[in-house]
Amino acid sequence: MDNQTLTITDNRTQQTYTIPIWRGTIRAMDLRRIKAGAGDFGLMTYDPAFMNTASCQSAITYLDGDKGILRYRGYPIEQLAENCTFLEVAYLLLHGELPTEEELAYWNCEITHHSMIHENVKKFMDGFHHDAHPMGILMSTVAALSTFYPDARNVADPKCRRKQVVRLIAKMPTLAAYAFRHRLGLPYIYPDPELSYAKNYMNMLWRRTEPKYVANEVLARALEVLFILHADHEQNCSASAMRAVGSSTADPYSTAAASIAALSGPLHGGANEEVLRMLDEIGSNDNIPGFIAQVKEGKRKLMGFGHRVYKNYDPRARIIKQVAGEVFAVTGRNPKIDIALELERIALSDDYFITRKLYPNVDFYSGIIYEAMGFKPEEFTVLFGIPRTVGWLAQWQEMLQDPEQKIARPRQVYTGEDCRDFAPAALRGQKEPAGI
Ligand code: SDX
Repeated sequence: MDNQTLTITDNRTQQTYTIPIWRGTIRAMDLRRIKAGAGDFGLMTYDPAFMNTASCQSAITYLDGDKGILRYRGYPIEQLAENCTFLEVAYLLLHGELPTEEELAYWNCEITHHSMIHENVKKFMDGFHHDAHPMGILMSTVAALSTFYPDARNVADPKCRRKQVVRLIAKMPTLAAYAFRHRLGLPYIYPDPELSYAKNYMNMLWRRTEPKYVANEVLARALEVLFILHADHEQNCSASAMRAVGSSTADPYSTAAASIAALSGPLHGGANEEVLRMLDEIGSNDNIPGFIAQVKEGKRKLMGFGHRVYKNYDPRARIIKQVAGEVFAVTGRNPKIDIALELERIALSDDYFITRKLYPNVDFYSGIIYEAMGFKPEEFTVLFGIPRTVGWLAQWQEMLQDPEQKIARPRQVYTGEDCRDFAPAALRGQKEPAGI
């Protein structure tokens, strides 16, 4: 087909317009030519929640929602989860290619070298209550890092950007582990440069009085795979937050804090915590039919199910189910997996879910593994945020290097009052105030 154009007739004016079609889209700005008359602003698109709007061009992650495909820089997620370390995948997402052995060795060394955090961070970490939500601690401490690295504001300088990228990837596990230890009243454990990314995180989480932490190999590999699966997912809510906030050229620490805030929402990364609370509430297979009935009445959501893009099985959920078996061989079976499997079996045979193409997403099974490994539900989304920091940074860098990108500033359809004059309080009639 060579005629990649739309012909639009404006029935208000009988004018016709030829709009180019570009990679399955039309440019919204091309619609501004369509005016009802002189002085008309021109047409805009109206797309609440961006259901059908591409906000950028990106070469990082490819999803096919109908086929349940996920690729990082063209590599199928299944192959990366099977063959790579997390830092190898992090290098791929950020640089566009898998590293050579020499590049990977240098990259590992760089990240390890920057895993310490300023001692002052402990002082405000200690300021949180013992039961402070770990996402609140993480969001705050990541934002605070911007005050330790004021040069991070030089986002136009590639060398400066790379320094912050390395620092953020390296320090996220340390901050997360410190938050975990603070909540338990345990002393902070320093990073161990001899350990891999996942094993070092486990060391900072779980080392007690032993002189050297020795990680369980199966659990360490499971954590690496879970980190790989959570590393990026194209223009999800938190990546969009990273792009929008980063487009004002704010520093990457403050920008990442905004992404952590977005991820914490129960409809996004916070879902993995909600899934466990839902499974605890259901309690046994006997209660599943009653719960499903409430979902179908619209009273509840089946947390961990559904996705804006995947209208097929989330490929990450499939891999996580396999990882669960390997983890349970070490930790013992988490009985909640049986409720989850039965919930999935019933849902996938029920018309309500079939017609809405609702399948398990990445959050449905991950929490069951995390709980078996010893994490509390409120710590699960932190485990999502650590690896997703790589995706946020890859999206942030791509945005800053995109010549088409500028500060994100959407338009609106104004539905408020027309112009009206001020009236002194004594003359104002009683009006039903708009809800806040
Ligand atoms: C993540 O974007 C990403 O890529 C995110 C993510 C990533 O890696 O970054 O994949 C990670 O956030 C996964 C999603 C985790 N969230 C949950 O598991 C929360 C439960 N899921 C839903 O809230 C929902 O499915 C969303 C938020 C994930 C997607 O919502 P959409 O695309 O806005 O879909 P919708 O709410 O318009 O739902 C369409 C229909 C509605 O029914 P009707 O109004 O047509 O009758 O499906 C129903 C919804 O009520 N529906 C659900 C449901 N999800 C959608 N009904 C019951 N349970 C659910 N979970």
